[in-house]
Amino acid sequence: MSFFIFPKLSPVPYFPANKKDLPMIVKTLNLRNDQVVVDLGAGDGAVVFYAATEAQHKRLNTSFLALEINPILLLLLYYRRFMHANRDRIKIVYGDFFRRDYLTSLPKAKHRTFFMYLSPWYLEKIVAVIRKEFKRFEMVSYFYPLPARKGYKLTKSTRNIPDIYRYS
Ligand SMILES: C[S@@+](CC[C@H](N)C(=O)[O-])C[C@H]1O[C@@H](n2cnc3c(N)ncnc32)[C@H](O)[C@@H]1O
Repeated sequence: MSFFIFPKLSPVPYFPANKKDLPMIVKTLNLRNDQVVVDLGAGDGAVVFYAATEAQHKRLNTSFLALEINPILLLLLYYRRFMHANRDRIKIVYGDFFRRDYLTSLPKAKHRTFFMYLSPWYLEKIVAVIRKEFKRFEMVSYFYPLPARKGYKLTKSTRNIPDIYRYS
């Protein structure tokens, strides 16, 4: 397990979202057509693969992008995508959420939704990076709210321990 939390591989330790919270997370992602859902620091892909299954069941054309920096987790992501029925709509990118590069490899879509399970300090920095590239996007944060600032609006929150927040 130590390679998952080794700081050189994962500057933010790898903790997967709790399985029992996946239905509520996916509900908060508000899956729809012409949407790309990006998991920033996708871990083993718990959220992306669950959401991609839901999208396929609902016959949606939603695309998914899993961004991850830890090479061990990337191997797992590639394997899980290979086994997934909706794999054609899932993209895996090796990259750093503090850099803008990955934003250029986003599939084209009218709606962009960024999912994050990261501490508030990271959330704020990441949102600043995304804002340089896009004017309109949504953010869903698991566990941690975004620090109160002007410029984004809380549109939904699920008090569920842990909480889930959606902003636009
Ligand atoms: C708390 S885990 C969340 C995993 C997944 N999103 C979930 O909800 O199950 C945070 C993840 O972010 C990844 N990570 C840490 N720093 C990163 C960076 N700079 N760029 C991309 N991913 C990073 C870690 O390797 C880890 O898998």
